[in-house]
Amino acid sequence: MSSINLTVEKLNKSFELSIDNIASDKSISHRCAIFSLLSDKPSIIRNFLRGEDTLDSLKIAGMLGATIEDDEETIKITPPSKLSEPNDILDCGNAGTGMRLYAGLLAGIDGSFVLTGDKYLRSRPMKRVTEPLRSIGALIDGRESGNKAPLHIRGGKLKSFNYISPIDSAQVKSALILAGIKGEGKSFYKESLLSRDHTERMLNGMGANITTNSDGEIEINPITKPLNPLNITVPADPSSAFFFAVAAAIIPNSIVTLKNLTLNPTRIEAYKILEKMGAKITYIEKENLYEPIGDIVVEYAPLEGVVVSENIAWLIDELPALSIAMAVASGESIVKNAQELRVKESDRISSVVNNLALLGVQFEEFPDGYKIFGGTKLEKATINSNGDHRIAMSFAIAGLLCGMDIEDTACIDTSFPNFVSLLNLLRG
Ligand code: S3P
Repeated sequence: MSSINLTVEKLNKSFELSIDNIASDKSISHRCAIFSLLSDKPSIIRNFLRGEDTLDSLKIAGMLGATIEDDEETIKITPPSKLSEPNDILDCGNAGTGMRLYAGLLAGIDGSFVLTGDKYLRSRPMKRVTEPLRSIGALIDGRESGNKAPLHIRGGKLKSFNYISPIDSAQVKSALILAGIKGEGKSFYKESLLSRDHTERMLNGMGANITTNSDGEIEINPITKPLNPLNITVPADPSSAFFFAVAAAIIPNSIVTLKNLTLNPTRIEAYKILEKMGAKITYIEKENLYEPIGDIVVEYAPLEGVVVSENIAWLIDELPALSIAMAVASGESIVKNAQELRVKESDRISSVVNNLALLGVQFEEFPDGYKIFGGTKLEKATINSNGDHRIAMSFAIAGLLCGMDIEDTACIDTSFPNFVSLLNLLRG
């Protein structure tokens, strides 16, 4: 990945915009590529995210034997009759989701597989999936005793399990569900807060039997025959749309309509926090296919500080952008219980506070979060993304208020290839 820079000029006016081409949902697109391998018929995917992360997952599906036909609008994924051992390593690029979900799938498939990624992904913890997978019989090794990629997986028969996860992570849950449906009997998985549930919704939509009881315990029944194929239009990604939600919330007299987002409750918590800070937000549900889908309208209002310490898994990806709103808001804001931020595409606690400091914002850093002293007039600065797409885009939004030079922005292409062109639209 080359390292390019982005200069954002101050926006000296308000904007009113409806955006119907926000990047497609990254989580759902990864799952489309991976889950299509569980059927014996072609899956039809419209609006697949053509970002680097999800294209890497699609490429891996091809390396495992799927035929991929792409007419620019629709991607047709025809699975092989039996997944084949690839003749090369499987490169997940920057994508933790790709690596962790493929680890869960491949642990239960006969063959030898090597999963690797870019330098950022190779430094992220994988023990959270390799440890529980090993405990049910998977043969996995990697650097640091299986904690860091490259990971080598020798797939085979897996035992059923009853696993209580120490972290609320959809990637860990999905890896274990993919292992569980290949297991010998019923398996059970429990997390303390329901993390994003696209895996359960999509696999059940394909005919699997995964149920969640009122205590949040997930029962995973093995599949006895191939699942039905997917036929899906991927909704827009609320985490990508959130950058423009923050833009409307911090630029006086602005309003933005973000079209056709998934309104899955595990994905829109950050909008609820922005609402709590004072922004005017309306949710318009339009349809329900695997997930509720609709528009979110965000309108400027003066913002006030907020404490974010609950439902962290529901807004973990939006915290960098939310931090820009916190810096603009009057009063103090606090983020707690968010230690997971330290192991994302960068250490997002340190990336957020150290870059905010360059803009003149006062902060306190905690092991699991930070306090931001809001209301300071932001100053133009040169910041570095640390190779993290969400840091680059969050500070680009801050740049609308004060101007910004952002180093290392090629990473934006992992999730939101048309981000810069949409940012330019705000200028009219
Ligand atoms: C994702 C889950 C989240 C999120 C990531 C995508 C997914 O990670 O941060 O961007 O698609 O399952 P964790 O599950 O590790 O928290």
